[in-house]
Amino acid sequence: QGLLGGPRSLAGRKAVVTAGPTFEPIDPVRGLTNRSSGKQGYAVAAALAQRGAEVTLVSGPTALSAPPGVTRMEVESALEMKAATQAALPADIAVLSAAVADWRVDTVAGGKIKKGPGGPPTLALIENPDILAGVAAPGPNRPALVIGFAAETTDLEANARAKLSRKGCDWIVGNDVSDEVFGSDGNAVLLVTAQGAEVWPRQSKTAVAQALADRIADHFKSAQ
Ligand code: CTP
Ligand code: CA
Repeated sequence: QGLLGGPRSLAGRKAVVTAGPTFEPIDPVRGLTNRSSGKQGYAVAAALAQRGAEVTLVSGPTALSAPPGVTRMEVESALEMKAATQAALPADIAVLSAAVADWRVDTVAGGKIKKGPGGPPTLALIENPDILAGVAAPGPNRPALVIGFAAETTDLEANARAKLSRKGCDWIVGNDVSDEVFGSDGNAVLLVTAQGAEVWPRQSKTAVAQALADRIADHFKSAQ
């Protein structure tokens, strides 16, 4: 079938993938969000399912439809994404590619905030939980392979490496977002593992996902 490691190289494996942005409400009509089309994460979910994995895709708001054979859980906020991701465990593989909002508004207004003579409102923000660090933390539910993404505008390799150790995950896919990534079909990435860093050629997000899924399948093959 042209798939490295055989077409069903991930049969019997369970995977959870996060993708897209999160949306953190300010009031009923406004919110904070991140720039993310979800394309890369959806392509990873599709590539894992093509190889026979049982895939749960936890997705923030995107314009994409669920890939064939993938169970999609649609969420909005980081807290919802965290709950849905944990509910998808145990799993063998976690690929957390979502652009999670780092902060949410402390107190969401119950009604629409109106303009007025008092001037603009001041929003008090609090930090969202780190979903990746939580999934990668040692424990009975920790997936055997936990993969994060790092979107950086400078010092890609150093920042990706720092995230690998800070979050306790196994691999980081470093993403250079200094030009054309958001919403585009192409991606230039770096794969950082304990063994070192590999620069991958700029290729389509689908090709990045296929290559990553092949690496994941190889990992489980050699671990057996
Ligand atoms: N991530 C997560 N939960 C968060 C923040 C990030 O699961 N609350 C995950 C992302 O899905 C991604 C990885 O962590 O896989 C790195 O996200 P990134 O935003 O690059 O890292 P941060 O730790 O938030 O650092 P910063 O934004 O300050 O660079
Ligand atoms: Ca962040």
